[in-house]
Amino acid sequence: MSKRMLDASGLHKSYRMGRVNLHVLRGVSLSVEHGEFVAVIGASGSGKSTLLHILGLLDKSDKGQFILDGNDAAKLSSRRRNRIRCQDVGFIFQFYHLLGELNVLENVMIPAKVNYSTIGWIGQRRQAKTQAIELLERLGLKDRLKHRPGELSGGERQRVAIARALINKPKILLADEPTGNLDSKTGLQIMKLLKTFNDAGQTIVMVTHDQDLAAAATRIIHLRDGRLK
Ligand SMILES: Nc1ncnc2c1ncn2[C@@H]1O[C@H](COP(=O)(O)OP(=O)(O)O)[C@@H](O)[C@H]1O
Ligand SMILES: [Mg+2]
Repeated sequence: MSKRMLDASGLHKSYRMGRVNLHVLRGVSLSVEHGEFVAVIGASGSGKSTLLHILGLLDKSDKGQFILDGNDAAKLSSRRRNRIRCQDVGFIFQFYHLLGELNVLENVMIPAKVNYSTIGWIGQRRQAKTQAIELLERLGLKDRLKHRPGELSGGERQRVAIARALINKPKILLADEPTGNLDSKTGLQIMKLLKTFNDAGQTIVMVTHDQDLAAAATRIIHLRDGRLK
């Protein structure tokens, strides 16, 4: 496994708003090795989410090269791109994005289900359920399996989102301000959990505006003026 987890070089991204061209990323280069926990710190509006979306194949850069686990993003068919995003990338967001109509266990099992046809899922469901329960136990949510997201605290919701992000054993976990909606104590607990998964080998890239949260990372980079420093 000598190849890098990801290699980005000279990424540019602009948003066109009417006549105004907003040049957000202006030559971002970043390499991440397997097993790293990289924190990208930047002010609000500096382009952190924009960058993370490109790294997670949710969006494309206008210019530059991006290679994820040996796959050149520019050369992927949309089918393969979707497949890699579902299987190899896990996302957590500031506002959790859990489905309110589903309980905790069901939310965590969604990404596992996406990988199978209806018939295939019948054979896989039991195993996926076991894995989801194990993961939720590890995250301290054993007694919350049947709860709906609306019945949980912010910290608990984010832990559910972490379980959902990890259920497919992604090669990389991408976190966008994962503690931005939590009080500082709960935020630190989430960071500790992320560090535990990183210690167990999970590669993580997190973006945040909060310098203090980056302490759990193995490497800290600053996003400023559209570039990483
Ligand atoms: N889809 C979009 N269309 C137009 N402008 C956008 C879009 N997404 C983000 N922006 C703008 O690009 C800049 C960077 O946004 P973003 O990557 O979300 O920053 P951050 O996550 O660091 O706060 C902001 O000024 C934002 O308003
Ligand atoms: Mg953002």
